Amino acid sequence: MRDIKLIVLLLAVHTNLIAGSTVDDKFLADEEEATNWAGYGRTYSEQRFSPQTQINDKTVSELGIKWYLDLPKDRSLTGTPLAIDGILYFNGSYNVVRAVEAKTGKLLWEFDPKVTEHSGDRLRMMWDWNRGIAFWKGKVFNATIDGRLIALDAKTGKPVWTVQTFDPQKPLIITGAPKVFKDKVIIGNGGTEWGPARGFVTAYDTETGEEAWKFYTVPGNPADGFENNAMKMAAKTWTGEWWKHGGGGTVWHGITYDPEFNQVYLGTGNGSPWNPKIRSPEGGDNLFLCSIVALDADTGEYKWHYQTTPGEAWDYNSNMDMILVDLKVKDRLAKAIIHAPKNGFFYIINRVNGKLLSAEPYVKVDWATEVDMKTGRPIERAGARYEDGEEVVWPSAFGGHNWHAMSYNPNTGLAYIPIIEMPGMFSDKNVDIMHWESPYFKFDAAIEFGPDYVPDGIGTGALRAWDPLRQKLIWEVPLPGVWNPGTLTTAGNLVFQGRADGTFHAYTADKGEALWSRDLGVGISAPPITYNVDGVQYISLLTGWGGVGAATPGFMGAQHGWAYGAHMRRLVTFALNEKNELPPSKGPIYAKPILAEDFVVDETLASRGSKLYTEECMMCHGPGAGAAGNAPDLRASPIMLSTDAMHSVVVNGSLRSNGMPNFAKYQENDLIALQHYVRRQANTPAPCKACNEGGL
Ligand code: HEC
Repeated sequence: MRDIKLIVLLLAVHTNLIAGSTVDDKFLADEEEATNWAGYGRTYSEQRFSPQTQINDKTVSELGIKWYLDLPKDRSLTGTPLAIDGILYFNGSYNVVRAVEAKTGKLLWEFDPKVTEHSGDRLRMMWDWNRGIAFWKGKVFNATIDGRLIALDAKTGKPVWTVQTFDPQKPLIITGAPKVFKDKVIIGNGGTEWGPARGFVTAYDTETGEEAWKFYTVPGNPADGFENNAMKMAAKTWTGEWWKHGGGGTVWHGITYDPEFNQVYLGTGNGSPWNPKIRSPEGGDNLFLCSIVALDADTGEYKWHYQTTPGEAWDYNSNMDMILVDLKVKDRLAKAIIHAPKNGFFYIINRVNGKLLSAEPYVKVDWATEVDMKTGRPIERAGARYEDGEEVVWPSAFGGHNWHAMSYNPNTGLAYIPIIEMPGMFSDKNVDIMHWESPYFKFDAAIEFGPDYVPDGIGTGALRAWDPLRQKLIWEVPLPGVWNPGTLTTAGNLVFQGRADGTFHAYTADKGEALWSRDLGVGISAPPITYNVDGVQYISLLTGWGGVGAATPGFMGAQHGWAYGAHMRRLVTFALNEKNELPPSKGPIYAKPILAEDFVVDETLASRGSKLYTEECMMCHGPGAGAAGNAPDLRASPIMLSTDAMHSVVVNGSLRSNGMPNFAKYQENDLIALQHYVRRQANTPAPCKACNEGGL
């Protein structure tokens, strides 16, 4: 009898081992649990700090490639993989999710939600990438471009339930990772530049997919009544008929759950449209644009907010990660959020009440001189709102820091931020303020940047180690270009970061000394993670140039030479004393424009083509027809020389399954106008030294 009991007990223990870790609230709140990387920012704090020390400032020189997995169909890779019980889960381009054995790189399953079939005209919005998935009690949550939230069985990759999170007729999109807490999974969306977007998030039951609660971030039409008192309050900060253009405030990235206060923080987006002269003509703060909004995690009820950019006019959204930290501010322990949004100020916010504790610029800022600590409001510079129709402002719409992950190391007390130093031109000289209409599946922010909005060489990037308490730069490393990926920091006194030029680096966390690097052969846009399997510490990273910086900045992105489709994308895993090598990289490849000598460019047609191109092709094929890597460079495409071939690709959609959307409304004369524009650009030297000199 006793033996049987023992066997039952042993079986129970054994089954438990097979079943593995239960990723739940306790698990995700446990900062000491070092083995796994179970959430987007590892734990609920979103610090991206790992207590692992096997790889440290003394041993990192022995770090090498353990294995790599080729991802030949992938393009933009921006995601954070998860590592749970020795299995890596990640999503690639077009939301394909994979599970891989962490020790060997063996593919266990793959789930393809077929988003090019589901996307309709949304395919034109260029967002083929996603920043991550969530894991909760044996399920993987995948949010697709077309707005589906799909729960997958983590063992098999088979869908358990699917919900549509927004009306598919609306030009919205998902690129962010869902977050999980208390048997709920929460997701927002984006799309303020593509149509009249009104921001919201929805929380669903993780078991069933049933809606638990929903919260709008900006008020709708008052005539329809307000959903809650928060919306009533927010409506007082808007003027005109803002609801016609949606208002904005989309929650496309940062969402942090705070177990200590049972709160969810939303990082909210910019206005829809960006231009406040149209959005809210008589002024106003426009709540809750560009804010951190705290909600009750159980009910989704509003608790408090802090707005970083009142009445925003520059796409200065506050969607960037919000990290939970315990800081000693003026001798008192503060439960704080640290946040480095696009507007260039580094904020410390009190989690109890949303009060501002500190705000100082972490990059060059000239739209505001400072943040007034009494009112918590920025003091704006006259002219910054392009009152006279045009103004150059620091930072640009790319922000002083974009969505690329910031990490925080409690041992050094430093935050590691991939920053961008770059001004932006904001002009509405040619925008018809009185009669502007919201676009529909077409980019229009009611602001013009000019075709060469961000020429090569105008911006710089760096990795900055920032002391939040002293609001001080401790060390920095200059980086190539402006579009560099997120960071990881560890108790081994290390910071890891990839680069736009395809190299992957380790520095000491306290001093920023360069300790180790590897060339991984293709631009990196995703942040690394670390975890442990059977006593061995691993580091994994997705390689593959991607995100907005691989699509919209044209020659500034093209300078790196990650031409569309030319370089293999991979999941690469590192450990100490491993010596594997990647196959040799092709190195940078630059488009060689076709100089069709018998093609005579007609200036009138070319300028008509320029307008069509800017409206519908530029977001992927790049401003000035210089592609940054997200799509082929049309100056080098033979298809652009034949209207028949163009008809098949551009009008009929013969390459749709590869991500080239179709434009059924285009007539022959539109195609001819596009041809003339692209030929004119092909004949013009590119504003990019590397592109012109390196052309193949
Ligand atoms: C959402 C992003 C996106 C937009 C917007 C877009 N394209 Fe494309 N385009 C692509 C991608 C991706 C490919 C490559 C598809 C493949 O791999 O076969 C492509 C391929 C093409 C090609 C074939 C190039 C070649 O030589 O193989 C042409 C021509 C083209 N696009 C023209 C246009 C024009 C003209 C517009 C605007 C009216 C446009 N595209 C808008 C993403 C886009």
